[in-house]
Amino acid sequence: KILILDFGSQFTQLIARRVRELSIYCEIHPYNNPPVIDETVKGIILSGSPFSVRQEDAPHYDFKASHGTLPILGVCYGAQYMAHFNGGEVLPSSTREYGRANLQYIKKDNPLFKDVPEGSQVWMSHGDTIASIAADYEVIASTDSVKVAAYQISGTQTYGIQFHPEVTHSIDGKQLIQNFLVDICGCSQDWTPDSFIETTIAGLKEKLGDDKVVLGLSGGVDSSVAAVLLHHAIGKNLYCIFVDNGLLRKDEFESVLESYKHMGLNVKGVDAKQRFYDALVGLIDPEHKRKAIGRVFIDVFDDEAHQVQDVKWLGQGTIYPDVIESVSVKGPSATIKSHHNVGGLPDFMKLKVVEPLNTLFKDEVRKVGKALGIDNNILGRHPFPGPGLGIRILGEVTQEKVRILQEADAIYINNLRSAGVYDKVWQAGTIFLPVQSVGVMGDERTYEHVVALRAVESLDGMTADWCHLPYDLLAKISNEIINNVKGINRVVYDISSKPPATIEWE
Ligand code: XMP
Repeated sequence: KILILDFGSQFTQLIARRVRELSIYCEIHPYNNPPVIDETVKGIILSGSPFSVRQEDAPHYDFKASHGTLPILGVCYGAQYMAHFNGGEVLPSSTREYGRANLQYIKKDNPLFKDVPEGSQVWMSHGDTIASIAADYEVIASTDSVKVAAYQISGTQTYGIQFHPEVTHSIDGKQLIQNFLVDICGCSQDWTPDSFIETTIAGLKEKLGDDKVVLGLSGGVDSSVAAVLLHHAIGKNLYCIFVDNGLLRKDEFESVLESYKHMGLNVKGVDAKQRFYDALVGLIDPEHKRKAIGRVFIDVFDDEAHQVQDVKWLGQGTIYPDVIESVSVKGPSATIKSHHNVGGLPDFMKLKVVEPLNTLFKDEVRKVGKALGIDNNILGRHPFPGPGLGIRILGEVTQEKVRILQEADAIYINNLRSAGVYDKVWQAGTIFLPVQSVGVMGDERTYEHVVALRAVESLDGMTADWCHLPYDLLAKISNEIINNVKGINRVVYDISSKPPATIEWE
């Protein structure tokens, strides 16, 4: 495997993605808490950083401990660090170097630049520049304005590059990363969904033996893929619980339960609708609603889990971005992100946790799911929040509002599907607004509810833009909703991006 030591760059996860796209396994660790370097580690990549090496609180890492024995690639800050603290000097650039540049000089036959042509476009993003390097450092690439765009420490496999090969604007970045990983580190490209599945199932078998595992299915991609992996490993010892909280989409509970059974999972569907509705009476504040829904879920789940004799483990669909220890950009101390899946275990469920997907990114989970043969109606599903329609009904949640919203939402989603845009949209949903407005139907004046339609494009939900859905499609959806869903006389479309808005309204 490859170790990526993170100095807090926004691009660190992107480096990991590029490595894994080459079918090579890698892990991200904070620079100040690296794991033990054993013989499984084939090379180290040092990330960029929002810090400057000239800052007093610049993050430090003892690269000399591995330098000379393991290949090292320093990217941006990583490169500046190894130059500055080893006989060279890093200074502020006279102009900030941002954006496209071209490698006018590339040293012939340097293995890092194999099949990278002279003139190749690279992406720069830095305020400092490497002004001088020690005598045993050799410049292996330059741009017009950056002489030390890349260096190698002579006689070693230690490299530094000032540009970002991990972003797609660096046209030959992937080739360069491959050169480092395959030719220099000697990695073999055999980390594939199939090999992941094979080793994960074997590992789960060994870890779990004859133990029983309970797992909460949500209908989403992560919990479903986690369940299928566990199912392959321990079969009927996996007890899946799928709770109907009364806040799912129309008919979703029944259809997803059916898919799970079809997949051979040992799954129990639990109708707990009323418990959730009861807990939501009188609640208006979104956070209060979230807490109530979360609390009831834990109670229901716990009741069900207690019915499984001698259960030892809780299975979870936690994925890698939730567990990566992030380096705080405010100070060089490592902090751990808080997330609803991490540490969210109630004390009274004294179960050990098994998380088969906690080394995978979301797109990798989908690939693994595909290789496992999981149905596309589960793998291709839009993200859906845990509290479900509970946070898409603004204000107090009632069963009647849920019914109305489910009807409107089903019309919306079905239309997205039949127009062929469902898969192009990252997430879509309908929001029940806490207002009534005047309308006219036939000769009668109406005074009914309003729903908003939301559809966004996004990569990871952190930022998002509203989808420019065709007007004709919006018109058709609006008509269908108003004509078919009693209680709604107005439909609006949300044209806000995130930030400053969020994807959900609550
Ligand atoms: P926001 O509204 O914060 O949403 O832009 C970003 C993504 O997170 C989902 N979301 C949640 N998921 N529990 C969840 O499991 C929640 O309380 C929650 N709130 C928002 C949202 O659907 C979107 O995909």
